[in-house]
Amino acid sequence: MINAILFDMDGVLCDSEEVSISVGVNYFKSKNVNITHDDFLPHLGGGERKFFEGPSRAKGYHLDYDDASNYFKNHYEELLNKTKPALPGIDIVKRARKAGVKTALCSSAPRWKVLVNIKAIGLSEDDFDAVFSGESVKRNKPEPDIYLNAAINLGIDPSECLVVEDSLFGVRAGKKANMRVLAVTGTESFDKLASQGADVIVSDLGAVGSFNSPEELDKIISQDSTSNADGILYGANYIVPLKRRMSDSFVEKKMEEAASYARDHAYAPYSKFKVGAAVLSAATGRIYSGCNVENSSYGATICAERNAILHAIAEEGIIGIDTLLVYSDDDPPAPPCANCLQVLAEFAKKDTKIILVSVNGVRKQMLFSDLLPNPFIFPSVRK
Ligand code: THU
Repeated sequence: MINAILFDMDGVLCDSEEVSISVGVNYFKSKNVNITHDDFLPHLGGGERKFFEGPSRAKGYHLDYDDASNYFKNHYEELLNKTKPALPGIDIVKRARKAGVKTALCSSAPRWKVLVNIKAIGLSEDDFDAVFSGESVKRNKPEPDIYLNAAINLGIDPSECLVVEDSLFGVRAGKKANMRVLAVTGTESFDKLASQGADVIVSDLGAVGSFNSPEELDKIISQDSTSNADGILYGANYIVPLKRRMSDSFVEKKMEEAASYARDHAYAPYSKFKVGAAVLSAATGRIYSGCNVENSSYGATICAERNAILHAIAEEGIIGIDTLLVYSDDDPPAPPCANCLQVLAEFAKKDTKIILVSVNGVRKQMLFSDLLPNPFIFPSVRK
């Protein structure tokens, strides 16, 4: 049951990240320091201090935090009001309460900014059962304090709270609080949000749809209703319960994206043959990627497939491989090497799906048992 929704604000309800970054860039410009838009990205969602100190430290600039904070306060509201900052689907705040679900706003931003933002998106403090800003806790996200405080304040057990977040710090904070986390893409990519443990990922809050009770909300988030067992696409909005099976085509698209992204990072100066791979964990539905990393001593080269598997195990522990996708410019695409097949045999089943994709779109699909019908498995671990 979900009895409370705990909303982050920036990037979830209020499209203010870009405004904040613009003010931040302008501040550093006024100090003749060249800190760009992208320099801020790794430091979002952890409060104002991290927002300014992160890029300063990275560029070796000695920050006067009070000065930066004052500049921000003096320029932010004017710039925000030049935009239309309400993000799609934020009527969920009022709908939740009508459905008997409590709501809290849990932002790492200072209180003045929380109030400016709430007003700019057409809501007021009274639309929430509680409002927490950065001053309310000593430890900011990714620590769970703000979410745990909210749960205590609302009198709802953490296991019955749904955190709504857009940043990696925020998703981690929600998971550390032992809450379920619904993540909104935009600030961060699908893959990064999934890697931090988000339980459900949506393109925007409009994808959550309507619900009239805590039970109905729980059903949507858990996708328990059989009609939606496949994971669903609402037009451009998607809602993806990561712990369940989504439609195969959606998963394969995400795997291909992950493998192609990893392939861009391949280190193949000797063969010039770059390969990316993605594995789908059977237990969690999470996708892990890897690329080939070569070595002057050829024997020390590691293939993309094995790197993807190692990545998955590092995150989850021993995994079962539901699907392996390999992405290269080989056309027709070649199957994994014998070493990879032997490593796969340890974690795959006979019916593990193998998808081979070439950069020009040629696709081959087969089962693991087609590639390695008789793998060696140590006698004591044979199934
Ligand atoms: N390679 C892979 O990463 N996966 C395969 O399935 C075949 C080969 C890499 C290893 C090496 O870096 C390069 O491709 C040429 O063998």
